[in-house]
Amino acid sequence: MTSYSFPPEFVSDLRTRVDIVELVGDYVSLSKAGVNYKGLCPFHGEKTPSFMVHPGKGIFHCFGCGTGGDAITFLKKIENLSYPETLERLARRAGIDLAPYERSRKSEKEQARARSERENLTRAVAAAQAFFVEQLEKNLSGPVGAYLRKRGISPDQARRFGLGFAPDGWSGLKDELRRAGIREEFALQAGLLAQKAETGRTYDRFRNRLMFPIRDVSGIVVGFGGRILGEGEPKYLNSPESPIFNKRRLLYDLHHARPAIAKSGRALLVEGYMDALALYLRGVDNVVATLGTALSEENVQAVKRYCGRVAVFFDSDRAGRAAAFRALPLFMAAGVMPDIVLLPEGVKDPDELAAGLDDAGLARALERQRPLFDLFLSERGAGLTNYNERLVFLREVIAMAARLPDAGLRGLALRAASESLHLSEEIVLDEYRRLKHRAARAGRGGPEPRPATGPGTSGPASRSMAPEEMILAVLINFPGLGRDIAETYPEQVADADCRRFFAEIMAIEGSGADPGPELLSRLAAGADEQEYERLAARYARLVHLPIGVEDEDTARRVIDDCLFSLKKSSRRALSHDLDRELSQCRDDDKMFELLRRKMELKKEMLLPRVVGRET
Ligand code: UTP
Ligand code: MN
Repeated sequence: MTSYSFPPEFVSDLRTRVDIVELVGDYVSLSKAGVNYKGLCPFHGEKTPSFMVHPGKGIFHCFGCGTGGDAITFLKKIENLSYPETLERLARRAGIDLAPYERSRKSEKEQARARSERENLTRAVAAAQAFFVEQLEKNLSGPVGAYLRKRGISPDQARRFGLGFAPDGWSGLKDELRRAGIREEFALQAGLLAQKAETGRTYDRFRNRLMFPIRDVSGIVVGFGGRILGEGEPKYLNSPESPIFNKRRLLYDLHHARPAIAKSGRALLVEGYMDALALYLRGVDNVVATLGTALSEENVQAVKRYCGRVAVFFDSDRAGRAAAFRALPLFMAAGVMPDIVLLPEGVKDPDELAAGLDDAGLARALERQRPLFDLFLSERGAGLTNYNERLVFLREVIAMAARLPDAGLRGLALRAASESLHLSEEIVLDEYRRLKHRAARAGRGGPEPRPATGPGTSGPASRSMAPEEMILAVLINFPGLGRDIAETYPEQVADADCRRFFAEIMAIEGSGADPGPELLSRLAAGADEQEYERLAARYARLVHLPIGVEDEDTARRVIDDCLFSLKKSSRRALSHDLDRELSQCRDDDKMFELLRRKMELKKEMLLPRVVGRET
């Protein structure tokens, strides 16, 4: 397993990049409540929602069980992960490239070796690509040229897409690689050469094939798909997995399609290299293809990074349809509701479609799309003759909808499901809630015990707040008011966490930044995981207190009230101390002094409460 080492900036950056509503929405059905969202707490069983998510501040908190914190705390608790695991998961979710943070337990030397292994593999692949391209040029008058013509690809177009030819021999590439100084071990590892087990003899793995170079997102060739000319098995031979070639991560020609996808905000996802190429050749550039494997989560993330709308454009046969339906839950979990391009009757795949139409006709045909989820509902839902099957289908559909992070989309999907199944929305929603509840229970294995309260913390589940906390809750929304109590607050408050919060709020107020994520980052700085978790949980509690303070005047009044009671209680404590000292005092002078102080204190405590700033 790879382990990672994340610097503090990474964690604070991550925190700002994760949408806590989206994250929590994966587990909890949230509804909007003012600027916040509320739902049923996944950490304890409840029937009325007391679980709040505050997007602006990046915080969640449950008033029922007291659990709270930021996105990191949430995922860690709900999935029961370690802290580094949580960061890794969140980073993947946010589409952050983790490679720079990889920490292997390997020595420097071994790391250097891994780096040089990748370099060597890349060099071997580059040499092979040059060879294949050269061979295509030389053989244009031969069978491969004829094959290109048959598929409607001109030599110029083949050059533009870097197509190549692997000649029909056992050692054409092998000899070339040797001449280029590529070590055999790398040629083997990159799947350019194969080896006979019995004799150890090596030979060209790709023979008599039209070669499609596969590039990573930066445009470097990392592998190949080779199509046999004419009939034969396998039809396509692909590079094997290697440190530079990972099919889950790669998409055919994302490098080429990326600008067009970003520009149009839409991506077309096809199954075959030829499909992608056929569309490029007709000027449709926002196309990517999977590498002969099922669509992966990484593929979805890679596409989603550049656009909001994806249409799958798979073969019209059963296998193509099934592949599209299998991809659907992956898309939905990533918050994407894909469309599907509907091929006209009798057309097998995008390649065939492109061949049979002029440009305008092709453009029109590509617009014949339908939400894949709708198609799934009608196609898979039709012909379920048996009630058991129907119920299973209903639950499958709801489970799919439940994966949508966006509450709006989820609502629409559930609505579509209820309509398609001729059920009232009520019943579908009911079933949905039950599913969520079960999922939440299964995810945590029973209710969590309440976290122990450390020194200086008030019970997290207590609904009423100490005045020093109430002041902070107000200040988070009206940080400017803190200036008036900059000295009084730290004097009057014993709770070290609260003093820390206060100091940070004031510092942020001075810098003009948004106290939400900024405050969390500051709390995280220098704190260990446990301390941070405690602080974040307390902060979460403060953020969500429904204080009903809307305007600055009320805010000021609440602060004054709280300060008053703080002073009252500190006087009471002082008076207690004096009493104790008095009871033990054997010295007349000292006793006199103590009594004098006690009288004074009593007088102060009897005074009408002073509204205002002065002590
Ligand atoms: P198809 O069989 O649909 O190929 O496989 P195609 O795109 O229509 O190919 P042509 O038009 O006959 O040339 C789609 C994709 O599945 C993978 C390849 O990535 C191919 O592009 N595949 C297919 C393989 O990896 N191996 C195979 O043997 C077949
Ligand atoms: Mn085809």
